[in-house]
Amino acid sequence: MKGVILAAGTGSRLAPVTNIISKHLLPVGPYPMIYWSIIKLRDAGIKDILIIVNKKHLGSFIELLGEGEDLNVTLKYKLQQSEGKGIADALMAANKFIKDEKFIVLLGDNIFEDSLIPYIKTFQEQEKGAKVLLKKVEDSRQYGVPILDENSKKIMAIIEKPDKPPSPYCVTGVYFYDQEVFNYIKDISPSSRNELEITDVNNLYIQNNSLQYDLLEGWWIDAGTHASLFQANQEIYKNINMVNAK
Ligand code: G1P
Repeated sequence: MKGVILAAGTGSRLAPVTNIISKHLLPVGPYPMIYWSIIKLRDAGIKDILIIVNKKHLGSFIELLGEGEDLNVTLKYKLQQSEGKGIADALMAANKFIKDEKFIVLLGDNIFEDSLIPYIKTFQEQEKGAKVLLKKVEDSRQYGVPILDENSKKIMAIIEKPDKPPSPYCVTGVYFYDQEVFNYIKDISPSSRNELEITDVNNLYIQNNSLQYDLLEGWWIDAGTHASLFQANQEIYKNINMVNAK
């Protein structure tokens, strides 16, 4: 299975430093943020990885990571064509790299404890469709939030950044897709914040009865704000034995 890391976001919530540096290159513990996504994929056996970046920061990524030789992975890069147009728009850039296989997508600012191995295993057993990982959070209003049917253990819909969250769970930035995802991205339109939302793509999978979910068990942080970046640093240093880049 191949992996895709989305690292093209503008990082506006981490300004002013992100005016000159990609959010994904800021330190989390002893390494730049992007290392954690690469290590998670690598340690789950996924070494063929595409990183989607924006034009402004491509040079820094290449200077830091090259083709992945230091981390024992094979890295390729692709540019998100239009800046700030959303996660689904960025993912479209992976179409040629993926062709027609199942794959895993990580948002490069999501830092988490769990190994990906068991989730990859169940996704490989899944005949078709997609899978998302949920995490219970204190305040889910800033995320995609699932409406869950406890009986059938199904997601009925996902609402992006709801004022009144229908559940205490958020959809994390760990996604498993089949190649249908690229057709679904072509079918969606920009949201009110003028982005192609990954939540709209996931809702199309739900409508086709082909979205599964699992729960993340360990800690999980979207390190896209100053407060959560600080928290991610604390978790990494608390669990310093996670640090095994080589
Ligand atoms: C994005 C997704 C959201 C998801 C979150 C996880 O939000 O749109 O559904 O819950 O990542 O980190 P954003 O970071 O674009 O606000």
